[in-house]
Amino acid sequence: MKEIDFTDLDKRKKLYDGANGNKISIIYNNEQYMLKFPPTAKINKNMNYSNSCFSEYIGCKIYESLKIPVQKTILGTYKVKGKNKIVVACKDFTKHGVVLQDFASLKNQMIDSERNGYGTELFDILNTIDEQNVVNREELLDRFWDMFVVDAFIGNWDRHNGNWGFLYDSRTDSMEIAPVYDCGSSLFPQADELIMKEILTNDNELMYRVFEIPTSAIMLNGKKIKYFDFIVSIQDENCNRAIRRITPKINMEDIKSIVFSTPYINDLQKKFYYTILSERKSRILDFTLRKLKSI
Ligand SMILES: Nc1ncnc2c1ncn2[C@@H]1O[C@H](COP(=O)(O)OP(=O)(O)OP(=O)(O)O)[C@@H](O)[C@H]1O
Ligand SMILES: [Mg+2]
Repeated sequence: MKEIDFTDLDKRKKLYDGANGNKISIIYNNEQYMLKFPPTAKINKNMNYSNSCFSEYIGCKIYESLKIPVQKTILGTYKVKGKNKIVVACKDFTKHGVVLQDFASLKNQMIDSERNGYGTELFDILNTIDEQNVVNREELLDRFWDMFVVDAFIGNWDRHNGNWGFLYDSRTDSMEIAPVYDCGSSLFPQADELIMKEILTNDNELMYRVFEIPTSAIMLNGKKIKYFDFIVSIQDENCNRAIRRITPKINMEDIKSIVFSTPYINDLQKKFYYTILSERKSRILDFTLRKLKSI
């Protein structure tokens, strides 16, 4: 892959929100991109910056390989005070007259409810999907569960209601589901080399990261969902359908080539990502699919 230096490209005045790192707007190949800079590692004090740019890139490439609409991502560098930082460029999917509106805003539109737009209780999310009439209900429900399953696979703990949404076209007053964005909180972005080595050599540490953490941003009865417990319980028929839909589409050879062709990361990091993904695929998704087929 060609290494891209984004430093001297034209900038735009567009601003982006979000709590995980600085962002600027640039033009690359005549297209607008949001450049995400690595945020400081708030939890792991031994690390200066988190690996979330790689999580974003690999997470989005995995969505792409499953043919789920997702933002285009490119890894590159950007010089800050003479030092090169590795950044991820996310192609801006808005355009003139078309803006992104998040799921939280849709939830706010439910005027007869007390629900707070950013509340992530599963029941309220599903109710909002059911009651809204801005996009096709089945399509939205399927997208929600597809994302839930892929997020379980990539270990994403931050699919809050601001991290998925819709594209609103003010010229035609129409709405469609936006491509997936913000996968920066998957694949343990605050694991440093020491932690990666520990996880790769100690099975208990690895299994903890398959069965227990990360939890989902979505809650059941006030508690964050544990992906394994929820998916394996086969309690939600729409989640089961997503498992049947998505699991057979995941080709671990494709996943391997995504991880192993990711630029800027070393062999340890590649092995770490691939191991996490293989274990989560086989112990959460494959296991549940077998269970579903056996009943
Ligand atoms: N590809 C995109 N095109 C247009 N707008 C985008 C795109 N990706 C993200 N955005 C907008 O930019 C905001 C910040 O991006 P993003 O969610 O990736 O940042 P973050 O700091 O990781 O967020 P969080 O606070 O959820 O961790 C999003 O909430 C969304 O409004
Ligand atoms: Mg976000």
